[in-house]
Amino acid sequence: MIFKQVFDKKSSTYTYIIASSEGREALIIDPVLDNVEDYIKILNQLNLKLVKVIDTHIHADHVTGAGKLRDKTKCVTIMGEHTPTDAVELKVKDDEIIKLDKLNFRAIYTPGHTSDSFCFLMDKYLFSGDTLLINGTGRTDFQNGNSIDAYNSIFNRLLKLPEDTLLYPAHDYKGETVSTIGKEKRSNPRLQVRNVDEYIEIMNNLNLKKPEKIDYNVSSNLKLGV
Ligand SMILES: [Fe+2]
Repeated sequence: MIFKQVFDKKSSTYTYIIASSEGREALIIDPVLDNVEDYIKILNQLNLKLVKVIDTHIHADHVTGAGKLRDKTKCVTIMGEHTPTDAVELKVKDDEIIKLDKLNFRAIYTPGHTSDSFCFLMDKYLFSGDTLLINGTGRTDFQNGNSIDAYNSIFNRLLKLPEDTLLYPAHDYKGETVSTIGKEKRSNPRLQVRNVDEYIEIMNNLNLKKPEKIDYNVSSNLKLGV
């Protein structure tokens, strides 16, 4: 397997390029519009053919590169079935498998950060979008976010995965690149709660600023950035 984690400095977004070394087919998760040419360079250098691109949810803090990648490479755009956009070609259901040669990506519906958020599990690699971050969790105060749903998605789905599952989130603001489910269970401050009410209490008191350009980003992302 080929695996690349690409960082976008402006939005602190992680984009993942995953490919099968046998069939040379590639999949990209959460691409950023500004970096599309860089992804294409990497694909060409590694002699890979992009066949699928996934957005874990409609992002608020950057514009997706999914539409541009589709136009340039004829790859298939994929999101979870609850996405509010009709521009995406394939909408997957909870537990559905996305194939990339012999690699399988299992879609896991994890509402909470947004109502359309999905995570994707490939072998021991969990691409958690903004549902579960390293030492944090996705905010729940816009895009139909809901702290009860977030709690259920995190505690009843993601934290039930084996402890050695590798956590690859869509963002990190402190230079962390990877964690594990076990490590987050033990040390993520948001997860040290006894029940859903304590979690809601934390989420209701974050007092975060609204992301810059959220309205522009969301409306662009509903068109997959093109
Ligand atoms: Fe997000």
